Amino acid sequence: VPSTAGLIERYREWLPIGADDPVVSLGEGSTPLVHAPRLSDRVSGEVWVKVEGANPTGSFKDRGMTVAVSRAAAEGAQAVVCASTGNTSASAAAYAVRAGMRPVVLLPAGRIAKGKLAQAVVYGAEIVQVDGNFDDCLTVARKLAEHYPVALVNSVNPDRIEGQKTAAFEVVDVLGDAPDLHLLPVGNAGNVSAYWRGYRQYAEQGLSSRTPRMWGFQAAGAAPLVLGHPVAEPDTVATAIRIGNPASAELATAARDESGGRFEAVTDEEILDAQALLAATEGIFVEPASASGVAGLLKLHAAGEVAPGQRIVITVTGNGLKDIDTALSRHTLETTTVPADVVSVADRLGLEG
Ligand code: F0G
Repeated sequence: VPSTAGLIERYREWLPIGADDPVVSLGEGSTPLVHAPRLSDRVSGEVWVKVEGANPTGSFKDRGMTVAVSRAAAEGAQAVVCASTGNTSASAAAYAVRAGMRPVVLLPAGRIAKGKLAQAVVYGAEIVQVDGNFDDCLTVARKLAEHYPVALVNSVNPDRIEGQKTAAFEVVDVLGDAPDLHLLPVGNAGNVSAYWRGYRQYAEQGLSSRTPRMWGFQAAGAAPLVLGHPVAEPDTVATAIRIGNPASAELATAARDESGGRFEAVTDEEILDAQALLAATEGIFVEPASASGVAGLLKLHAAGEVAPGQRIVITVTGNGLKDIDTALSRHTLETTTVPADVVSVADRLGLEG
């Protein structure tokens, strides 16, 4: 299978897609696993970053969406619906229009990063802004799919988890075995569940010798799995994971416990610091929520809880360009211009010829 193939083509035998089923693909998966020398030095280990923002719509959601929309197409669906903090809606819209279906997206009004909203608009989604948070949107989306002819493509749809587990396959395929630790952000809790399923299946089939411990990180203002109970009014600058009642709480908790892992909270400041550090020292620009795994690594390392010498993979879930307002809010741009000549520019830079 060529490396440009989408992930259904590459991993079909592991997925609920029959030989004659339609495949709706935008060439997702095969994302870079980038060695991070600065982070590695810092924690005296070997740190790799799985850059999921390199997917066609800029987030890991495309892995689940190619499978969910392909399955929906096989079942003759005419419309799909999802609730979303932004990335799922961008992905659902792209794959649905590709399949000739109507994309309906329910969004928490005023809480979507602008890049993601732009994606939904330009892909041609039917956008319904809901007066409520993500959890409210998901409740409505589930009922809509139950009572009306629309297919639900949130991660409560098991096809989504199936597609997303392929990221764990790719990590093992590249590194040759599972890492010691896998860190990632946790919101609605589908992705940590998906990775765990992928790692387990590869180990069961003898394609890896072990499974990693799963470390999941939530934003401190939206940390129901850390607290052990839902949060009624979740809040964080990381709007992607502004979720108070994760749909996959049970699967995720099982992933944590079976893997010998942990879930921890990171503050908004820690998230934004990690976002800045990852961009400015490793050259990887991610959206705020996506930096929470890096924030978690730095936090637990500072607390003396990261043993040296480990192989660590961190998933960064979405592209930094999705939320430029938040990224730019911490920087001041030089506003005065210089004349268009080389001496003026060199002067401004403090360079001496
Ligand atoms: N990172 C990003 C960038 C996300 O968009 C999400 C979830 C997560 C992490 C958390 O993943 O929900 O599987 O635990 N975004 C969903 C959405 C909720 O609607 O786009 P999870």
